[in-house]
Formats: sequence, structure tokens, C-alpha cells
Amino acid sequence: METKLDYIINRIKHIKKIQILELGVRYGVSTKKFIELCDSNDGFLISVDIKDFSNVIKSDRWKFINSSDDNFEEVDKFITKDLDFIFIDSLHWPDHVEKVFYHYYDFLKKGSICVIDDVSWLPYSKNQERDKEFSEYINRSTFYKILEIYNQNQKNFDLEFYFRDSGYAIITKNEENFLNKSKKIKSREFGIKNLLRKIYKRKPIN
Ligand SMILES: C[S@@+](CC[C@H](N)C(=O)[O-])C[C@H]1O[C@@H](n2cnc3c(N)ncnc32)[C@H](O)[C@@H]1O
Repeated sequence: METKLDYIINRIKHIKKIQILELGVRYGVSTKKFIELCDSNDGFLISVDIKDFSNVIKSDRWKFINSSDDNFEEVDKFITKDLDFIFIDSLHWPDHVEKVFYHYYDFLKKGSICVIDDVSWLPYSKNQERDKEFSEYINRSTFYKILEIYNQNQKNFDLEFYFRDSGYAIITKNEENFLNKSKKIKSREFGIKNLLRKIYKRKPIN
């Protein structure tokens, strides 16, 4: 069966001289796949990790930056505003994801994609295969954070969700504009009408 990483590789494999920025390396699973793609497409990968994973692979098509990915002064020395693909898989804390997304989005070419890993909480919910309350909470919070960003930026980028495994948010940049700030979405979920509907099991009234 196709893995979720294969799904992403298939989305970007046509890009010649692909320029990739990856946040989060650990054992290099995604790093190795991206380098394979760079080898076949004459591309280059820059990866950032707060821990030193410079030894996971040797390649002339790879630059490893040992830094926190929100140390923008450091990372920006190595990247230019012509990225074809950004893969965000470092600290999965919604505010951190938002911070690095807003910063690096500016380096993404129009028409290119940014993927945010781990946005599905389903495998971590109760009695599911990875049953883990913290990951359930954090992935769901990241998912809603991305919706809050998208809600203010619907003309600036397209948003897709891929829900296999722990899921991806796939963001396609449509405009060169700066992004608008995210805002809480005003939900009626806990409004009095909805609560009454739940209590009395009534259908919504238009
Ligand atoms: C989920 S792992 C990355 C997995 C990798 N992308 C893969 O698919 O094989 C997350 C990595 O993010 C790194 N990390 C955590 N916080 C970070 C930060 N603020 N800046 C950069 N890297 C960070 C961790 O050290 C860890 O190696």
C-alpha cells in the first residue's frame, strides 16, 4: 500500500531542479526520500533540526542546519525565495507550527506546496491503534489552527487534508500576498440553539 510519504512524493516528483526545505529530520525517513527525489530531479534539500542529525545520510544534494527552525536569522542565511516544497514536521505544537508556517511560506514559489505533518487525531483517539491522549489533543489542535489560518486566507492558498495515518495538511500557494493573521472561528457548536437541538434531538431549523 502507498504510504503517506509516497503520496506526497507523487505530488512533487514532476518538479525539475526541485528546491526543498524540510523542518524535522530525526531518523531521516523523509529526508532520505527527498534526497532520492533530488538525485533524480537535479534538486537540492535543506533540512533543519534542533538536534544534530547531520549523519543520517551523506549527499552533495543535502545541507543540514543544526538549529531550532524558529531561529529565523540562522535558517534564512541558507534559503532563498524560490522553494518548490516545504515539509513541516518538527515541533508539533499548534502555535509553533503557525509561527514557522507564516515565516517560511514567504519563501515558497507561487503554485508550490507546503505540507504540515500530523494533523489527524483519529489514530490516537480512544481505543484506536495508537491510543494516546496527548497526540490526539495536539494533532486536533493543529488541525483547527490550520483551519483558522485558512479562514483568513482563502484567496491566498488552497487547503487539502489527507487523512491516511497521522495525516497531512497540503497547502498550495495561489498568490504572492503576505498572509493575513489567523483568527478564532466563531462557532455556533456550543450555542443555546445547538444545545437545545442536542437535548431534544431535533433537526436544524433554517
Ligand atoms: C517527527 S520528527 C521528524 C521526522 C522526519 N521528518 C521523518 O519523517 O522521518 C521531529 C523532529 O523535529 C525536531 N524538532 C523538534 N523541535 C524542533 C525545533 N524547534 N526546530 C527544529 N527541529 C525540531 C526533533 O528533534 C525531531 O527530530
